[in-house]
Formats: sequence, structure tokens, C-alpha cells
Amino acid sequence: MELSYVTAGESHGPGLTVVVSGVPAGLELDHELIRRDLARRQAGYGRSPRQKLETDDVVPHGGLRHGRTLGSPIAFFIENRDHRNWTDPMNPWPVPEEALVAYGWRGKPIRLPRPGHADLSGVLKYGLSDVRDVLERASARETAARVAAGAVAKAVCRSIGIEVRSHVLQIGSVRATPPAWLTAADFDRAEASEVRCLDPSAEQAMIAEIEAAKNDRDTLGGVTEVRAFGVPPGLGSHVSAGQRLDGRLAGAMLSIQSAKGVEIGDAIASSGRRGSSVHDEIHHDDGRGFYRETDRAGGLEGGITNGADVIVRVIWKPLPTLMRPLASVELGSHEQQAAHVERSDVTVLPAAAVVAEAGMAFELARAALEKFGGDSIGDFVAAHAAYMARVAQA
Ligand SMILES: Cc1cc2nc3c(=O)[nH]c(=O)nc-3n(C[C@H](O)[C@H](O)[C@H](O)COP(=O)(O)O)c2cc1C
Repeated sequence: MELSYVTAGESHGPGLTVVVSGVPAGLELDHELIRRDLARRQAGYGRSPRQKLETDDVVPHGGLRHGRTLGSPIAFFIENRDHRNWTDPMNPWPVPEEALVAYGWRGKPIRLPRPGHADLSGVLKYGLSDVRDVLERASARETAARVAAGAVAKAVCRSIGIEVRSHVLQIGSVRATPPAWLTAADFDRAEASEVRCLDPSAEQAMIAEIEAAKNDRDTLGGVTEVRAFGVPPGLGSHVSAGQRLDGRLAGAMLSIQSAKGVEIGDAIASSGRRGSSVHDEIHHDDGRGFYRETDRAGGLEGGITNGADVIVRVIWKPLPTLMRPLASVELGSHEQQAAHVERSDVTVLPAAAVVAEAGMAFELARAALEKFGGDSIGDFVAAHAAYMARVAQA
């Protein structure tokens, strides 16, 4: 069965649910590691006070017994602690009009769609008149559920030695210069950085850039990088479009709220160079087998992993909710007015990197389960080991 997940839930509703299916039986899930990833998604300089309000955790509703997967769909519920401030405006069942009055702006319909958000397209598409009916689901609060699914995928990846790590390369106009060759251990520095940055000299400049944008009541985008270590050659396939792992990774990344571009390896710089200085030359020795001295391809050739680290960068647009709002048009009256304003972050790059990590882990776990199969994690690990032994002889 193919590894897949589906999420449900609104930003200020009772909570989020994620159902992950296709996970083999017998996989040990560490509650602490899941909680840690959820906390990493909530961290980062430039976030709104909401992140302090929520301390996300998963409540398993199926698929687990004594910390081990059963092979059945895994369901997690993540409570929205902020829901207590929205009980009537976000009540799944009808509430009397009078009850909403007590909630002030929270109880009123939103008629001024924000440029850059899903607001206008969503109300037009679904025939709605209150922008809240769109923004509650379009909101990236949903990424908490993706991160929980990603934590399950990371456990699958870890069982065959794959580690997925992330860092922030750019916030606004400030670009970090991390070392070109990184090991998984090098990423520990990103965990200690408020902006998830590996370059200490860029870190302070990034924080200053965020403060400046905040003072101007503006927002920032940037670039993040995710790397996977210990990836076997042979995940994904060249044989058909839907099996190419580069396409799947790009799709997973671009499906994240505010992700607008994806770069695999050094694609952008390579596009201006000659092939002779782009492609990673192939070497072999008896200890290492086939290997490369460079990884400009980002570990993918022909839509298949080549055994090098998988490197994917995501380009994020500045967040659309501005405290100094852009022009919009009121639904119904068509009057030109300033767009809706609601509590919002200045930048989410450190958090976005964690969401991208989840996306990469999920796609790698999915491709690995396709390749090595197995209803139990033991079968999966054994098939991987047999394959690696065969590849070592090639
Ligand atoms: C982790 C994360 C947090 C986000 N938080 C906000 C936010 O506080 N305010 C905002 O306007 N957009 C935020 N966004 C981006 C919007 O959800 C996104 O721009 C919107 O849904 C429209 O989708 P699009 O940008 O992909 O076109 C966030 C995105 C991510 C990944």
C-alpha cells in the first residue's frame, strides 16, 4: 500500500487531524521526537505570539499500540489551544447570532480579501461570502499536521539510515554562506540558531532585517535548504513522469503554503555554466563503491537518487498578511479599501524549513517503501540490506 497522508482541520477550529496510511507494522515511534518536530515548527525569530499560545502535541487516535505501528492507518489529533478564544465563531455546529457579538472582530464576517492569500480566489471558487471560510483552512496552521506526518516518515527513513536536516539560506535580502560540504552533524548549529542559520555572520544581519521589516509593518520571504543523508541509490525512477523523484519532491515542496520555487542541487547557478563544470564526475573504490567528489545534481539523476546527499532548496514569498495592508476591494460593495489584517508573522523561514524537511522525509519514505516494500518494518529493513549488498558488488 502506498504511503500517503491526509489532513483535516481549520486554524482556529478544535484542532487538526492527520491520517497516515501505508506505514509498515512494527515501526517504533518516539513521542518525544514527534513533539520536538512540532516545537521546531513553532520556533523562530519573527513569529507571532500565537506560537507561544500553542504547544503542539499529538494525541494518537489509531494505528499505534505501545509506541509501535500496527500497519493500520495512523491517526493523530493536534489540539488548537487557541480555539478556546474562538469557540462560537469556529463552532462546527450552528450558534445564535447574538453569541457572535461578544467576540468583537472575531465574530464578524471578513469581506476584504488579502492580496497574496487564498482569500479572493477561495471565495470565488467555492461561492462563499465570508473570507474566514477560506482563510481558516488556507492558513499554514495546517503544516503542524504535515510535520506530524513527516515525523512518522522520518522514523521510516531512519530505519534504513536516512537522516533529513534543514537550514535557512536567506531571509529577505540577507544571504548566508554556509560551508559547501555539510554532514548531518553540521546541522546541529541550525537547531541552536533563532533563524535556523548555519552561518553565524549572517545570523545577526537576518535578525536585523526581520526587526526592520517588523518596524515597517512588512513581511519577508527567503530561501531554505533541506538535505537528506544516507540515501541509497535507486529511489524514484526514470521510467515514467509520476515516478520521477525530482518531480515528486518539487510537488511536495510547492504544496507548502507560500513556497513559490524549488531548486534541486545547484540548478540555478548551473543553468549559467557549461556542462563540463556542472555534472558530478563518477569515481569508484572498493571500500566506498561508486562515489562523487561533488554534488551539484543534488543527489538526483534521471529522477532517481544516485547515492549522494539529496539537496533541495525552496524559495518562499514574503507572507501576504501585512500590518500595513495593501489595497483590496470589499466583497459585495466593490469599494476599494485596505485589505483585512489579522495577527500574523513577519517571517516564517525557520519554521518553513522544518515543514520542508517533513515534505522531503515523506517523499523519501514513500519512494523507499515502493522500492523495498514490506508489511513489517523488519521485511523493509531486510530488503534494503539485501539491495545494498547487491549494489556494493556492482
Ligand atoms: C509555517 C508557515 C507559517 C505561515 N504563517 C503565515 C502568517 O502568519 N501570515 C500569513 O499571511 N501567511 C502565512 N503563511 C503563508 C500563507 O499561508 C500562504 O501565503 C497562503 O496560504 C497563500 O498560499 P500561497 O502563498 O502558497 O499562494 C505561512 C506559511 C508557512 C509555511
